Amino acid sequence: MKLSPSLLAADFARLYDHAREVEAEVDRFHWDVMDAHFVPNLTFGPPVVNALRRRLDKPFDVHLMIDDPIGYAPQFDVRADDSIVFHVECDCDPSDAIEAIAALPALVGISLRPATPVDRLFPYLDRLDQILVMSVEPGFGGQAFLPEALDRIRALRDAIGKRPVRISVDGGIGPRNVRSVVEAGADIIVAGSAIFGQPDPAEAARRLREAAEG
Ligand code: DX5
Ligand code: ZN
Repeated sequence: MKLSPSLLAADFARLYDHAREVEAEVDRFHWDVMDAHFVPNLTFGPPVVNALRRRLDKPFDVHLMIDDPIGYAPQFDVRADDSIVFHVECDCDPSDAIEAIAALPALVGISLRPATPVDRLFPYLDRLDQILVMSVEPGFGGQAFLPEALDRIRALRDAIGKRPVRISVDGGIGPRNVRSVVEAGADIIVAGSAIFGQPDPAEAARRLREAAEG
C-alpha cells in the first residue's frame, strides 16, 4: 500500500513545510489542482506545483480537476515516476488526453466522479498506469467516504486483470475505513484531512499506514 497525502487539507501558507514534515512517512504527494469550472473550487496550478517539485523528493500525483487537462498537463515539470491524473468527464477527448500525458515524462492516470459508471474507463485500460477512484464528489476535502466506492474498486480490479494499472482511492479515507479500501483492491491511498487535519500529521500518517496494513 502506498500513501499519498493530499495537501488540500494543509495550511496553504506553509505547503512546503507541511510536505517536508510528513515526507519520511509517505510514499507520494497528492496535489489537487482545481480550476473553478470542472469543480466549484480554485486551488493552485503549475507555478505552485513546480516550485514544490523542485524542493521535495517523493513522487507527485497531480490530480487535475480541470476542464482542459490537455492544455495544462505540459506545464507541470513532472518526473518519470510522477503521475498526471485527469478526469474522464473533462471537456476533452480522453484518448487525446492520455496521448498528451503519455508524451510527457509522467505516468498516465485517469479519474472518475462517483456517479460515472466504471465501464467508461474500460476502453482505456491498456493505456493507463493509474486509476484514481473518487470516494467523494471532487472539489473539497473533509467529506464523508462514499461506501459504494468499494464495489467500484472491486469492479475495476476485476476489469484490470493482469494489466500493470495501480488503483488509487481518494476522499474521506481515515484509520477506520482504510483497511476496507485496501482489501477492496486499492494500491494507493490518498488522504487529506486524516493527515493534515490532525495535530501531528507525521504521527497521523504512521497511524493510517498501520491501520491500512491491518
Ligand atoms: C477532493 C480531492 C481529494 C481531497 C481528499 O476533490 O481530490 O484529494 O483532498 O481530502 P480528504 O481526505 O479530506 O477527503
Ligand atoms: Zn485529489
